[in-house]
Amino acid sequence: MPVNLPIVEKTLEQLGADTPERVAALFVKVRAEFDREIAAVADDAARKQFRDAWLGRKAGVLTLVTDNWLKPASPALKPVVGQGLNELRSHVESSIKRRRAEIERQSAERAAAAERLDLSLPGIARAVGTRHLVRQTLDEIEAIFLRLGFAVVEGPEIETTYYNFEALNMPELHPARDMWDTFYVDTPTGGPGQLVLRTHTSPVQIRTMERQPPPVRVIVPGKVYRRDNPDASHLFMFHQIEGLAVDQDLTFADFKGTIEFFVHEFLGKNARTRLRPSYFPFTEPSAEVDATCIVCSGRGCRVCKQTGWMEIMGAGMVDPAVYGFVGYDPKQLSGFAFGMGVDRLALLKQGIGDIQVLQQNDVRFLRQYP
Ligand code: PHE
Repeated sequence: MPVNLPIVEKTLEQLGADTPERVAALFVKVRAEFDREIAAVADDAARKQFRDAWLGRKAGVLTLVTDNWLKPASPALKPVVGQGLNELRSHVESSIKRRRAEIERQSAERAAAAERLDLSLPGIARAVGTRHLVRQTLDEIEAIFLRLGFAVVEGPEIETTYYNFEALNMPELHPARDMWDTFYVDTPTGGPGQLVLRTHTSPVQIRTMERQPPPVRVIVPGKVYRRDNPDASHLFMFHQIEGLAVDQDLTFADFKGTIEFFVHEFLGKNARTRLRPSYFPFTEPSAEVDATCIVCSGRGCRVCKQTGWMEIMGAGMVDPAVYGFVGYDPKQLSGFAFGMGVDRLALLKQGIGDIQVLQQNDVRFLRQYP
């Protein structure tokens, strides 16, 4: 940006400035040009160029004023030119300094503006996963039994027929095996090595007693499989929680007290229980446990088929024959076992009519149980 000031190329004589007033008028012009030009200096590069144009040693405006005006000036005008030059220099230097600070402040402001967070923008809502209703129900049931001193153990979902049936007092060809519609796993050999998808969590009773001496107090949450066609009340994969307590002198009253405690905790203080005689090969006596219907509080409704009761688990005192399979002494020990369907309990508690919604993964359903 060359300075547009032809007057500094000339001497005072050439300009006809022969009085202090005329000299002063020239300085006013120079200063006015300076003020006009500096206003247009917008960035650091332009500022450096501008500084060289005015203060540069060789051809800067101030050098030209010194060479063309001051040096050749008559002794009478010299002090006037000198004073004008000094004032001009200090005006130029301080103005450029001020301009530099302004440019720095402006570019810092621009950078800050570019980085500024706009807190008024709507955020990005992330879909946060939640525990599935079945998982929530498992956790809830586990917590109740943990308070009673039960420990949580798990077992394999692919089982041998030995654990799923035989050691539970069902030898091969025992008709009670038909109580469970079983998925058999294809194995090359067949025979005693036959594998199944476990039809219940009861095989973990055997695995637990094999592993540890009495006393035993465990619950077993897990998936089980049955060869059923899915409908409103059946799934081919669902969840059970097994319970097993074995010790000296455990009685049917201990069993009943434990179950009543559980029902009160899980369904509420007003829920009542009743036991109906039943049959399982691995318990004797066996019972089905009913609880008062949560929907109608026992008055009778569609959910409980007008009975006022809901079946919640199979149970009983451990059959002494089972102890024989795990090396426990049936004369010293007694115990109780139970098995409940977790998915069904979740439905009953929430008043849901179709068990299939638990596996359809419809987020509109899942979001109702955050
Ligand atoms: N395993 C049985 C079932 O799945 C339930 C049960 C467990 C019954 C423990 C008695 C004792 O039907």
